[in-house]
Amino acid sequence: MMTTMDVKMRALLLLLLLSATTTAAKEQQQQCHDDDEAALLAIDAALGSPYHFASWTRDTSCCDWYDVDCDQDSGRVVSLSVFQDANLTGAIPDAIANLTHLRTLVLHHLPQLSGAIPDSLAALTSLSQLTISWTAVSGPVPTFLAELTSLTLLDLSFNSLTGAIPASLGALTNLSGINLSRNRLAGPIPAGLFANLDPQQEAYLRLSHNNLSGSVPADLAAANLALVDLSRNALTGDATALFRQGRYVDLSRNSFVFNMSGVEFAEETYYVDVSHNGIRGGIPAQVANLTNLQMFNVSYNKMCGAVPAGGNMARFDAYCFQHNKCLCGAPLATACRR
Ligand SMILES: *[C@@H]1O[C@H](CO)[C@@H](O)[C@H](O)[C@H]1NC(C)=O
Ligand SMILES: *[C@@H]1O[C@H](CO)[C@@H](O)[C@H](O)[C@H]1NC(C)=O
Ligand SMILES: *[C@@H]1O[C@H](CO)[C@@H](O)[C@H](O)[C@H]1NC(C)=O
Ligand SMILES: *[C@@H]1O[C@H](CO)[C@@H](O)[C@H](O)[C@H]1NC(C)=O
Ligand SMILES: *[C@@H]1O[C@H](CO)[C@@H](O)[C@H](O)[C@H]1NC(C)=O
Ligand SMILES: *[C@@H]1O[C@H](CO)[C@@H](O)[C@H](O)[C@H]1NC(C)=O
Ligand SMILES: *[C@@H]1O[C@H](CO)[C@@H](O)[C@H](O)[C@H]1NC(C)=O
Ligand SMILES: *[C@@H]1O[C@H](CO)[C@@H](O)[C@H](O)[C@H]1NC(C)=O
Repeated sequence: MMTTMDVKMRALLLLLLLSATTTAAKEQQQQCHDDDEAALLAIDAALGSPYHFASWTRDTSCCDWYDVDCDQDSGRVVSLSVFQDANLTGAIPDAIANLTHLRTLVLHHLPQLSGAIPDSLAALTSLSQLTISWTAVSGPVPTFLAELTSLTLLDLSFNSLTGAIPASLGALTNLSGINLSRNRLAGPIPAGLFANLDPQQEAYLRLSHNNLSGSVPADLAAANLALVDLSRNALTGDATALFRQGRYVDLSRNSFVFNMSGVEFAEETYYVDVSHNGIRGGIPAQVANLTNLQMFNVSYNKMCGAVPAGGNMARFDAYCFQHNKCLCGAPLATACRR
């Protein structure tokens, strides 16, 4: 038998439940700005209305559409992240530039997306993160990127981009992450990258698997570069300055020529691969003291002298030191002559 108290409690609970669901519904049905809706529908049309955008219909707010996010306060579309679709075919639509409040644009793992990065994207001046990766996009790394003054992360890795890295990227005061790995970029690493970045801000630079040549610009070593991957290019000269700040340094498979003996590593260094270069000198004793060091590979160089012992050195096998001029001592089979 239900008492009056029970009934009252139930009514109260129901009321609470109802008000909670209506609040949630209101939050979900965030109003879509007409211009954003028009831009998104134009993007959909430009790509041939693929199945990927099946939820992009006028009877729901565009803020609820797949891959789309709106700002809570302004209600404007601030993020478009399209990824993982091998069916999505065509060029990057100019209509994206009509999403004028966009802060994040991600086009990832869309192997049939092709053509150049359109100049129209220069209009997206609020853009903070631009990712176009694992696509068939070709053409140059556009110089207009230097006009996107809010840019903090630029990831154009795993594409078919050609030409040089624009030096103008160095003008960007907030750009702290650049990933241009796995393209067909040629020419030198330009001077001035990260030159206008707050030195308190850590930066990363990934340029691996390209066809870059020339030496590492001196000012790059002055940046607060915590992670630098220049592997598999045709870079030359002295890159020792990168070890001062870099905790992850991959210089493998280039044509660097320098003397390792005097190198001082950053205390928190955890990854060093300099294999397949023309590096001379010996392994600094400090290496045994780097407690975070997980990878240390100096194989296929022209180094000499004793491999340091003790400390963390047991982590590294002979393959990390093989094919040098005259490195000796454990874990190598060659004993050092006294
Ligand atoms: C791609 O197209 C195929 C064939 O039409 C379909 O079966 C598949 O679901 C599509 N994949 C996506 C992610 O739309
Ligand atoms: C962008 O918006 C303008 C004004 O609404 C329109 O004239 C233009 O066609 C749009 N551009 C694209 C590529 O959809
Ligand atoms: C750079 O970042 C700072 C801190 O987030 C911000 O105040 C400033 O407006 C940004 N600058 C630009 C040009 O976006
Ligand atoms: C590019 O490099 C950054 C920094 O290491 C990483 O977070 C990101 O996942 C990379 N991009 C791709 C597509 O792997
Ligand atoms: C790399 O660049 C060199 C010139 O610097 C050129 O001779 C070579 O063909 C390029 N290789 C590729 C794979 O593009
Ligand atoms: C490397 O530098 C050290 C001094 O730091 C010097 O003793 C040694 O001879 C140099 N090795 C080569 C191959 O230039
Ligand atoms: C390694 O660490 C020990 C103990 O802290 C210290 O005595 C030694 O000087 C260090 N060696 C190098 C080369 O940094
Ligand atoms: C070090 O590099 C060499 C040459 O690329 C490779 O054969 C070896 O497996 C690497 N060692 C480790 C631990 O990755």
